[in-house]
Amino acid sequence: MKWISGVVRNKIVWAEGLFTLQVEAPEVEPFEAGQFLQLGVEQPDGHLHRPYSVASPHGEILDFFIVLVETGKLTPILWKLAPGDAVDVSTRAAGSFTLSHCPDGNSLWLLCTGTGLAPYIAMLRTATPWQRYPRIVLVHGVRYQRDLAYREEISRYQQAHPDQLAYVPVVSREAVSGALSGRITTCLANGTLEAAAGSPLDAHSCVMMCGNPAMLDETERLLQARGLKRHRTKEPGQIVVERYW
Ligand SMILES: Cc1cc2nc3c(=O)[nH]c(=O)nc-3n(C[C@H](O)[C@H](O)[C@H](O)COP(=O)(O)OP(=O)(O)OC[C@H]3O[C@@H](n4cnc5c(N)ncnc54)[C@H](O)[C@@H]3O)c2cc1C
Ligand SMILES: NC(=O)c1ccc[n+]([C@@H]2O[C@H](COP(=O)([O-])OP(=O)(O)OC[C@H]3O[C@@H](n4cnc5c(N)ncnc54)[C@H](OP(=O)(O)O)[C@@H]3O)[C@@H](O)[C@H]2O)c1
Repeated sequence: MKWISGVVRNKIVWAEGLFTLQVEAPEVEPFEAGQFLQLGVEQPDGHLHRPYSVASPHGEILDFFIVLVETGKLTPILWKLAPGDAVDVSTRAAGSFTLSHCPDGNSLWLLCTGTGLAPYIAMLRTATPWQRYPRIVLVHGVRYQRDLAYREEISRYQQAHPDQLAYVPVVSREAVSGALSGRITTCLANGTLEAAAGSPLDAHSCVMMCGNPAMLDETERLLQARGLKRHRTKEPGQIVVERYW
């Protein structure tokens, strides 16, 4: 893999251990919103790197929305980075979790847990989803209210596109006014997700999902029971998935 030495320009701490690193690495090759890059650091026993969705489109400073996995190898190092520090960034992005790999539809459902929000922030900053889908539903499942990052930016999109964008926060470990309680899967199964979104999730939707793998598996099973299936170029469906672990 080819590496660029990036420079951390800003660190936004949304909650303890939940943060966005803004990294300047202008030599990164053009990429599509939703793709991922590798972040890495040199360690005594070799180069340590992991993939991270870019939360910004090509041409802007690179945003990475990251959660500290206390038992993890790389995130405790990333969490300690400060403005001015260096971090290695892969030159070329990868991945097919992008709108160009999505079918058209009446609505675009963007389902995520935790830092799975990252690729959607990148996409919403581009014109593509707004031009392609009459309705966009962004569903963010988190444990606590404090984990609902990027809310101000999302509010701006809601104000700019009041009839097009629905934002549905889902909080599992505390009651929060204006958010659904529980897990995305429970809210999908009991109908409260679609009620809050004001749109049906059906075979005329495109459904992207990203984040916790157990959520991805359970949601896919629920959607399959409704007749939705993975989208493939040769066999069109509705579901496009990104697994983080
Ligand atoms: C395509 C892709 C894109 C990714 N994008 C992001 C991103 O935008 N932001 C981000 O924070 N992570 C993202 N990840 C996960 C990231 O690559 C690392 O796995 C994660 O940061 C943990 O690294 P670590 O070295 O600290 O932990 P490791 O020592 O590698 O331990 C990994 C373990 O940590 C847990 N874990 C990994 N990621 C998460 C997570 N996000 N939330 C909760 N638990 C997790 C899992 O149990 C996993 O087995 C992405 C992964 C993939 C495959
Ligand atoms: N502020 C933070 O977010 C933060 C800060 C520091 C460290 N960490 C660490 O980072 C790791 C990840 O935490 P996270 O909160 O970002 O991610 P997470 O554990 O994946 O939880 C995010 C959301 O996904 C839900 N979920 C889990 N399994 C699901 C399933 N099978 N179906 C549907 N929904 C499901 C969770 O519900 P439940 O609540 O019911 O599990 C929660 O609402 C943890 O190790 C945590 O300790 C997090």
